[in-house]
Amino acid sequence: MKALVIESYGGPGALALRTFPDATPAEGQIIVKVQAGGINFADVLTSKGGYPGTPKPPLIAGREFAGTELASGRRVMGYAQWGAFAERMAARPELLWPIPDTWSFEHAAAFPVNYFTAFFAYWKAGLLAPSPERTPRVLIHAAAGGVGTAAVAIGKILGVEMYGTSSSDEKLARVQQLGLQHAINYKLTDYEDAIKNLTHGEGVDAVFEMLGGEHTAKSTRCLRDFGRVIVYGAATGEQAKLDTRALYAKGASIHGLWLTYLSGKPQLMSETWKQLSQWIAAGHLRPEVGSVLPWERAAEAYHLLINRQNYGKVVLGIGA
Ligand SMILES: NC(=O)c1ccc[n+]([C@@H]2O[C@H](COP(=O)([O-])OP(=O)(O)OC[C@H]3O[C@@H](n4cnc5c(N)ncnc54)[C@H](OP(=O)(O)O)[C@@H]3O)[C@@H](O)[C@H]2O)c1
Repeated sequence: MKALVIESYGGPGALALRTFPDATPAEGQIIVKVQAGGINFADVLTSKGGYPGTPKPPLIAGREFAGTELASGRRVMGYAQWGAFAERMAARPELLWPIPDTWSFEHAAAFPVNYFTAFFAYWKAGLLAPSPERTPRVLIHAAAGGVGTAAVAIGKILGVEMYGTSSSDEKLARVQQLGLQHAINYKLTDYEDAIKNLTHGEGVDAVFEMLGGEHTAKSTRCLRDFGRVIVYGAATGEQAKLDTRALYAKGASIHGLWLTYLSGKPQLMSETWKQLSQWIAAGHLRPEVGSVLPWERAAEAYHLLINRQNYGKVVLGIGA
């Protein structure tokens, strides 16, 4: 079969379309004919050898896909750690979900990682059932990205007051159409100052923090009393820098979130899907697909994320 192969940990430039041995299912796995693949920031890290748990090259790239089950013809979207950007994929059945009838394969390939992660961020923040007395506030970094747009869509359903950052006014204008109330262009405005001004010095209940470096401490300073920073990435490439004494002053806390780990909890995943699928059926969730490129242009597609040029999800067309 044809597959997008990481030949060495040389970044997106070392990705190559190659003939690779056919996917062979382990016990209980299901073969999916893949039609589209969603690109995640984790794929960028994996291509450089910077993602924990990745085996040595050569290996097939891709952790998110949509296609048809070979045996049943059922349209499915799924999640894996690698191996998704190939004509055939051996998938774990508990990490496959039916594609809603009105969605294309491209939409479906943009769903699992972003929406499960965003849902878990609200869960970790304790905001899935917001208090009726006070509208909770959340600061969402990279609000125009894959996870970011999903967090805005879910925040709108939950009735959250959302503050979102991006490097681009154009991207922010699109996220405002999804329901983001407060757009902060961090190239023009310091987001810590913006949060202070917009919340009259009170701060936010939670920050969804995926930048690392100085931003973990800066995000902590954006919290109100008893607020929570949900740490789920380090797009700057730097480890979080935080003096934990900063948490004492406000009774604040930091929570880690990693979908790779949570995806191994079948009950949690199935309860989450139950809620997400209800929201999909009610017409509240539809993934934001910013660009679709053929897999021959995978390196270019990866660079959209690296260069901050993506809006929502970048999707690869897989196969002939
Ligand atoms: N823990 C988990 O389970 C989990 C799951 C999914 C994703 N993540 C993490 O969540 C983050 C977002 O992932 P995603 O796949 O949805 O990507 P994405 O947000 O669609 O793309 C990355 C975006 O991050 C923003 N950004 C800010 N600083 C950046 C920098 N130094 N380098 C590159 N981009 C920067 C850019 O948006 P602006 O130009 O708008 O700022 C860029 O478009 C990543 O850190 C990823 O590792 C974690």
